[in-house]
Amino acid sequence: MTVNLRFSSFTLQLLFASIILLLFAAACDTADEQAGVAYTIPEQPEMPTGFNPKPGWATSEFAVAAANPLATDAGYQIIQAGGSAVDAAIAVQMVLTLVEPQSSGIGGGAFLLAWDGSLVHAYNGRETAPSGADENHFLDESGDPIPFRDAVRSGLSAGVPGTVAMLKHAHERQGVLPWADLFTPAITLAEEGFRVSPRLHGLLEGEEALRHDPIGSRFYYDEDGEARPVGHNLRNPALAEIYRQIAQRGIAAFYTGAVAEDIVARIRAHERPGNMTVEDINNYPDQDFDVDAMCNDWRAYRICGFPPPSSGHIAIMQMLGIMEHLDAPETGFENGTPTAEWLHQYLEAAKLAFADRNQYVADPNFVEAPAGDWQSLLNPDYLRERAMLIGKNSMGSADPGNPEDVLSMFGMMQSQPDKGTSHVSIVDRDGNAVSMTTTIESGFGNRIMSDGGTGLEGGFLLNNELTDLSLRPYDDDGNPIANRVEPNKRPRSSMSPTLIFDRETGDFLASVGSPGGAAIIHYTAKAIVGMYDWGLNAQEAIDIPNFANFNGPSVLEQEMFPAEIIEALRAMGHQIDERALTSGLQAIQVTEDGFFGGADPRREGVVIGE
Ligand code: GLY
Repeated sequence: MTVNLRFSSFTLQLLFASIILLLFAAACDTADEQAGVAYTIPEQPEMPTGFNPKPGWATSEFAVAAANPLATDAGYQIIQAGGSAVDAAIAVQMVLTLVEPQSSGIGGGAFLLAWDGSLVHAYNGRETAPSGADENHFLDESGDPIPFRDAVRSGLSAGVPGTVAMLKHAHERQGVLPWADLFTPAITLAEEGFRVSPRLHGLLEGEEALRHDPIGSRFYYDEDGEARPVGHNLRNPALAEIYRQIAQRGIAAFYTGAVAEDIVARIRAHERPGNMTVEDINNYPDQDFDVDAMCNDWRAYRICGFPPPSSGHIAIMQMLGIMEHLDAPETGFENGTPTAEWLHQYLEAAKLAFADRNQYVADPNFVEAPAGDWQSLLNPDYLRERAMLIGKNSMGSADPGNPEDVLSMFGMMQSQPDKGTSHVSIVDRDGNAVSMTTTIESGFGNRIMSDGGTGLEGGFLLNNELTDLSLRPYDDDGNPIANRVEPNKRPRSSMSPTLIFDRETGDFLASVGSPGGAAIIHYTAKAIVGMYDWGLNAQEAIDIPNFANFNGPSVLEQEMFPAEIIEALRAMGHQIDERALTSGLQAIQVTEDGFFGGADPRREGVVIGE
């Protein structure tokens, strides 16, 4: 079966209609040391490119929401051609690699949740550390961690890419159209070119290390070192060729032969080389991609998310669960923002959740869950105990708890910046739904590009996912960090792809998720609360000003909160840091008439459907 695809001109118009309002330099780190916790606020994911209001989109048959109009359109056309939600997600990912190279791609990893009408499938495409990596991976000759920034921009940070193998596995289970057809949009766009978007241009302009990569410097910049301008038609013949091979020969075309060899050669040629081997890449597809989704009840809803190595679902459900044990403020949301009283409770619950996250959560193949079950962190009795630590004033920062009174042998991981990433939500004509969060970690990953050994212009970026592992293997007392580097280990993630159901009927209600490093957890929680506590539609929920706490200062999206709220939080003892919080939420919710989708006004996403 061949898919007949057409590229709608409206997606291109949409791209040009968006204007960069502001370019902010990454905000300064704020360090906070309270209650023995050394704390650094995570850097912000990708620089903001303004807040462009979006209408929200009502559809009746199906809907696709992704971070770029061309990628969204590819998913739309795949469903129009008879494809399933998983088929559409694969097409979207292949186009995202091309048009949103700063956030995700075939050089990275992804978590995919897929609802088939009766079951939630969870497919784990997280990158792995090379087999030769050990806990000294990021340490210098003196045994100290190398500077974080240097670690990111190196061959050391690259994990073995997982996205392509995971998507193939998902396709074998829930795909409808032939695998090869799902590459048609991306191959066409890679061959014919796509217009550089304002966001991609702005990010390229602000980027330094990619200018030093042998491929990236030629591909994304002109001879004078100027970033390809907005509207420039960028062709990527190397990626088109790689895609043709994967489409025709399957994933062996990525995990063996020229592509695998080129990835390893480029990682090893970097001035800070990594030790990934071709065999590491050859072996990746042999693993088990199926994991059990974690599903938990909250009010009238059943919320399903990804288990460890993601910390996302556990942290979101801890925060929501802890708040259930507090006296709810009379008003949680008014005049477009949460109230100070509600924010106080949320931000305190966040401190408790992040303390547990930093202590316990890591790759379950290496680290045992507290009391042998990750659900111990969500046990209502434990959450009630944790909620009792929240008073009228800020606690400063929180210590981790002891679910089921089991003492942890692990040390607490210090905060490390993590950023980048993209989210895709899809519902197809049969009501099957996807929530996929996908990443190469930092903006433009580790800034190493591979042309897959094609010798053609362009290619794809490699990830720096291993800097989601702790650079430091032990804490100051010599306790091992659960999320330290070990061979073949998957880094802890904050990615929180989420599917929401009616708790009584089991009916599917919504798909939601976001990029944004550790703040993904807060963005996703905000959207869930907005839709299902405050009764907002998906777009209104996404639009709510962002707020976060990573177990230290409370972070509020700059220029979005009224002074009275900030003053009220300060009066409760919160240290307030106002800064850009560039979420990239995408959500699709079921309505009486079909679906309503929202895309984040802080990025370029749209929803397309019928
Ligand atoms: N690299 C982003 C995450 O996995 O949370």
